[in-house]
Amino acid sequence: MQIDVFTLFPEWFDWMRRPRHLANAAEHAGLELRAFSYRDYTPLSAGQVDDAPYGGGAGMVLRVDVIAEGLQRVYGLPAADVRRRRRVVVLTPRGRMFTDRVARELAELPELTLLCGRYEGFDERIVEHLATDAVSIGRYVLAGGELAAMVVCDAVLRKLPGALGHADSAIEESFSEALDGAPEYPHYTRPASYRGWDVPEILLSGHHERIREWRRERSEERGRPGSGG
Ligand code: ADE
Repeated sequence: MQIDVFTLFPEWFDWMRRPRHLANAAEHAGLELRAFSYRDYTPLSAGQVDDAPYGGGAGMVLRVDVIAEGLQRVYGLPAADVRRRRRVVVLTPRGRMFTDRVARELAELPELTLLCGRYEGFDERIVEHLATDAVSIGRYVLAGGELAAMVVCDAVLRKLPGALGHADSAIEESFSEALDGAPEYPHYTRPASYRGWDVPEILLSGHHERIREWRRERSEERGRPGSGG
């Protein structure tokens, strides 16, 4: 899979590429993560990428011509055609909520482009004419889409076959279909007893069927409204 991120801060994505465990996971999963700077493609002489909003108001808005030029130059296609070839997702607080289901859906794609906003956000024509859809990672406003893009990359990477050491780790994890969308059950490891805090006996019993049942019950419990799970 190839994920391209368009941003004003491409170097931030080194954070995702450098650490050995992430680099290994990406390599095993066949993920190529590229980051492009809007500034490298702006057709404006002063290197400008944004402008004041029409109609007035605070903040600056990312320009449609700048984003179009970036897409066109990177993919060698008219900007409006790029979204016919690959999924182009705008990260914005008003997008569709990013969930385990969306992560799975994106992980199925061979190619994905993420557009990060800054300032007051995007000129609406970017969303309408250049992107396929918009995604939000939560009902709060970040200073930009970069952290949201990293969240998407991280969650998508986990879904790719080969990314995690153990083949089942991403299948039965929180919010997955295998757990009917509920949070994952609690985990324990050695020591079996620490300061009188004991690991549930069932987990030491070796009864795989009963352990499975216990885990399912704990997962369901955590998923009930008001459980804080
Ligand atoms: N950009 C700013 N805030 C965001 C959010 N909550 N989700 C996705 N992109 C964003």
